[in-house]
This record gives sequence, structure tokens and C-alpha cells, in this order.
Amino acid sequence: MSAVLVAEDLQRRYELRRGLFARPALVHALAGVSFEVEAGRTLAVVGESGCGKSTLARVLTMIEPPSGGRLLLDGQDVAAADAARRRALRRAVQIVFQNPYGSLNPRQTVGAALMEPLQVNGEGDAGAREAAAREMLRRVGLRDEHFGRWPHMFSGGQRQRIAIARALMLRPRVLVLDEPVSALDVSVRAQVLNLLADLQAELGVAYVFVSHDLGVVRHMADEVLVMYLGRAVEQGAREALFEAPQHPYTQALLSATPTVDPAARRQRIVLAGEMPSPLAPPSGCAFHTRCPIAEPQCRSERPLLAPVAGRQVACWLRQQGR
Ligand SMILES: Nc1ncnc2c1ncn2[C@@H]1O[C@H](COP(=O)(O)OP(=O)(O)OP(=O)(O)O)[C@@H](O)[C@H]1O
Ligand SMILES: [Mg+2]
Repeated sequence: MSAVLVAEDLQRRYELRRGLFARPALVHALAGVSFEVEAGRTLAVVGESGCGKSTLARVLTMIEPPSGGRLLLDGQDVAAADAARRRALRRAVQIVFQNPYGSLNPRQTVGAALMEPLQVNGEGDAGAREAAAREMLRRVGLRDEHFGRWPHMFSGGQRQRIAIARALMLRPRVLVLDEPVSALDVSVRAQVLNLLADLQAELGVAYVFVSHDLGVVRHMADEVLVMYLGRAVEQGAREALFEAPQHPYTQALLSATPTVDPAARRQRIVLAGEMPSPLAPPSGCAFHTRCPIAEPQCRSERPLLAPVAGRQVACWLRQQGR
């Protein structure tokens, strides 16, 4: 099967103006990430706050252009597409955000929210749009009488179902989910995750699932990409990654997630200090300032991803079998 979404060394920089006369500083929010996602499969992107997950989500959804690298959708280079083609590519990638309270227009009924993407894209007549919206409502586990109701009448979990329904109205090939259950009560998280799994099986849509929660990632992912300061430090199949994490950063993340790995909890690895600012990333391996096993080479030379134990790992020591 060929990949529906391909990222090649995808980058995104921001200029930060610090005062009138100072030269703007460059934030490398996304410093170069590569991956492929196939139809019906899920790539999970994990990492601490500020590592660039939402920046990646915005670039994938074409909300922001990349500053470097390439994004391919169905084999087509997004940057090279003409205006008409780009509109078509845009609708093929939709996004669901974390906050179910902010993502719906309070002045729009659920039915109107679901029909709007069809209307904007000139799909069907009014009758067909309503039928499609009612059908989608049912698919996400809501009822027909919800069609005319307002967002404030729904719980957080129901609102997230509506946001998912709206994102699926144009039958996207890829759904980017940026912390889709992080704001929900623990009791409804599993329901929404199960719904996402069912919809994927039904529709064959590819997911890019952004989360800081490894418990959730283990439940959802086929492939996992672990990010640190805008770059992947480890990436590969979920089983390999969870059973035997290789990068010291992945190991630390996993050891801090008790529900995921009770054995590792006993020997929890506590990372020293905060994540450095992407305005001034450390030299060499960006993780060396917090790494329990860093050596002199790690401070001076940046390791690239290379195969270790059946996945890609950016760590000098692991690449030397240590
Ligand atoms: N528009 C912007 N201008 C300047 N800096 C930005 C901008 N957007 C993001 N950044 C910076 O880029 C880095 C990555 O931010 P991003 O929001 O992608 O992280 P994240 O992994 O989604 O974090 P979180 O888990 O908190 O959502 C951060 O240091 C952030 O401050
Ligand atoms: Mg984010």
C-alpha cells in the first residue's frame, strides 16, 4: 500500500521580534521531521509541551506553509499544486482540536455546523446536505433530535463527537487530531477513542494523532514518532517502541507513565531540568542537557536518525549498541 501522507524533512520557523531595533530571533518550532502514513493507519506524535506537535499539525493541515521540506498528499507535492488543486488537497486533510468548547460556533446549530463544509464547497443541494449531516450525526453516536440543538446543550464528549463529525463531512483522506481527548473527563476519553477507532475502520481515513499521553498513544497508534525540540528522536512501530524503547528520552517518557508500563515505574527515570528553549537549542544532541547517559560526543555532534532494533533512533550511544 502506498502512503497517503508523506512528510520529507518538514520544517517550520517563526520570527520573534524582540524590541524595535533588535534583530528578530528565529524559533525552530519544527526543525525537520519525516514520516509516511498509509490509509487507515495511525501515526501518533508524542513529546512534551513545546516540542512542536501543534506546529506540525498546522503544517500538515495547510493552515501554515512549511519553511522547508516537502509535504506530499496522495503523491502530490502540496507546494507545487496550482490554486484549484490546492483547494482539493486542503479538503483532503482535516483537523480536530483539543478544546471541544472553542471549536464550535455557539450561534450555529449542530446541523448547520455539519452542513457548512458541504455548503462552502458547493456539494449537493440543501436536501442532500441535510441527509449527509444526519447520517454523520448517527455515525458519531449522536441522535437525530440533536440536529437542531445548540452547542451549549452538549457535554464535552458530545461536542468532541460533533467536531469529529464536522471534520469528516468532506470525507478527508487524513484526519489530524491535536490532543483530541486531553480536555475530556477520563470517563469519556475511552468512548471517544473507541469512536475514532471505529470511524477509521469504517472510512479508511489515516490519522495523525498528536498527544502527550503515552497511555492514549499505546491505545491508538500503529506508528509512533517521539519528538524533542522540533525533531524526531525515535520513530517506529508501536509494539517495538513500547516494548523496548531505545532513546533515553523515550525511556524517560515511558517510565513516567505508570499506566503504560508498571515494570518501568519502579525504576522511574526523572529527567533533569526543563526542556530548553527552541530559541537557543543546545549544541550537538538537543537532549544532552537532560540525558542521563550523555557523553562528550553528544554535546558537540548532532546524531541523525539511524536504524536501531527495528526502528529509527537519533542517539550516538544506541547506534553504537550501548
Ligand atoms: N506563531 C508562533 N510564533 C512564535 N513561536 C511559536 C509560534 N507557534 C509556536 N511557537 C513556538 O514553537 C514551539 C513549539 O510550539 P507547539 O505549539 O508546536 O508545541 P506543542 O508540542 O504543540 O506544545 P503543547 O503540548 O503545549 O501543545 C514552542 O516553543 C512555541 O512557543
Ligand atoms: Mg500543542
